[in-house]
Amino acid sequence: MFQTSTPVVGKGFHNRETELEALSRAMQRLVAGQPQWVAILGPRKIGKTSLVLEAARRARTDTLRVITLDVQEQGPVSTGVFRRLALEVLDAALGRELGESLERLAHEPAAYRSLLQRSERFGRLSASLRSEILELVEGQISLERLGAWLDLPEQLAAALGLFFVIALDEFQELETLKAQKDFNAFMLMRSRWQKHRRVTYFISGSARSMLLKLVQSPQSPFFQHFALRELGPFSTEAAMELLQRESHPESPIPRDVAELAVKTIGGFPFYLQLLGEELVDRQGIPDQSSLKTSLQKLLFSRTGRLALYFEGEFQKLVGRSTFLAATLDALAEGPINLTAIAEAIQAPTGATVTYLERLQDAVARTEDGLYRLADPTFALWLRWRRPGGTIVPMSVVGDEAEKSVSHALSAMGFDLVYQSKGSRGAFDLLATRGALQLGIQVRRSSLPLRFKRAEWSRMVADGRSLRWRWIVASVSASGEITMLDPARASVRRGATLSEKARIPNLLLWLDLQGPVG
Ligand SMILES: Nc1ncnc2c1ncn2[C@@H]1O[C@H](COP(=O)(O)OP(=O)(O)OP(=O)(O)O)[C@@H](O)[C@H]1O
Ligand SMILES: [Mg+2]
Repeated sequence: MFQTSTPVVGKGFHNRETELEALSRAMQRLVAGQPQWVAILGPRKIGKTSLVLEAARRARTDTLRVITLDVQEQGPVSTGVFRRLALEVLDAALGRELGESLERLAHEPAAYRSLLQRSERFGRLSASLRSEILELVEGQISLERLGAWLDLPEQLAAALGLFFVIALDEFQELETLKAQKDFNAFMLMRSRWQKHRRVTYFISGSARSMLLKLVQSPQSPFFQHFALRELGPFSTEAAMELLQRESHPESPIPRDVAELAVKTIGGFPFYLQLLGEELVDRQGIPDQSSLKTSLQKLLFSRTGRLALYFEGEFQKLVGRSTFLAATLDALAEGPINLTAIAEAIQAPTGATVTYLERLQDAVARTEDGLYRLADPTFALWLRWRRPGGTIVPMSVVGDEAEKSVSHALSAMGFDLVYQSKGSRGAFDLLATRGALQLGIQVRRSSLPLRFKRAEWSRMVADGRSLRWRWIVASVSASGEITMLDPARASVRRGATLSEKARIPNLLLWLDLQGPVG
């Protein structure tokens, strides 16, 4: 089963053995009284949360409890995040016994307190710790309280014989926190956390360079406090395995399809899961043709799930700046140097450098100093949405013949789509130009083309029922394309298309045809 809406753990979790091992070592060190902090760097949706949760699941001993918190999950970060964290820690410590969540009751102080009073373990805590906890959900936030909340996990762990792993996602966002003048959230955290012996901290975030600076810059309070783990896309093998193992056992994704899928969409587990979901949503064993339509639906369409995800990322990156949009567009083609970008976006190189910086981690550098987009799948989507970009799907998953036919049609102003089997009948491609729909059957051989009777009748019938104009495109071994008019076929037992069916000017030919049907 493919999973796309929540972090994956257990059977659905793939790969990442080295990373799991590193986290497991950190947890062993925690239990041995030598906590080691870990920073997990990786772009959005690469699997940071899944990794932490899976490591925790595998480590599960009754005394080790894991808390994961995305610091910006509830909108812009505020110091309230520390209250939420303290509540989550409480839930991890007492929730099992209570069978209810204390965090859920954060807005009902009376109910919160009465639930706590039911806990026998709570009753065993020291008086000062108990009153600290009872007051947690109420009152103004002060610097002093923040400090106490930060220490709560250590105190609870010591009192109850537990260990905590606290995993904070999008950690770098805490930089903007202001409690009062000269307040530095990182400084406060570092000074408290450092004394903790029964709690360890895993931080992660998608803003790679910010997070890297936070753990590597000598000016940072966290300088050299974290072991670094980088999380990248899956290798081709691991990516193929995910696709194959999660598909239906009775109609698994074949190796060649998985291979082409990974070649096209890359090794981001999230993208693979989305594609897998799309692929197995169809009848039967997925083949290359279902891969084409799945990609078309997922990535190369306005409403595809991956397309919508990229649209969101694009808006976040670019905002209203047309220059930033143009910069992304210039990068979409592949590695490019500064001068060429500046030229493409018609800006001075100085300004171009600023635009590139504003795009932050979306942009990477090659070894020889060229600029490129960090995510090649995002680049693919950007190329598809350009004018004339509708041939991108054919150029990545089409065979040579489909590629050349779609190029030729695109040059005439057509947009191209892979239609699903059910809605394209006998045709390989659909080309549209305004309201006009043209079905194309691609033949990888030179003239004359021969068709069996049944095959031919089917095309005629499909053309009629879909209300498409249709043609046959012959692509010779040397790549020469001939567009052929089915009305000029000689039909006897079978049908034959020869030189005399050639359409010399497709646009003119279409103009001269009456309405379909
Ligand atoms: N190890 C994995 N095995 C299989 N699928 C995975 C794995 N890691 C991630 N995924 C897929 O990627 C999706 C996103 O994973 P996850 O939420 O862990 O990423 P994240 O980096 O925490 O994302 P975000 O940036 O939204 O916080 C999951 O829903 C799942 O579809
Ligand atoms: Mg996450």
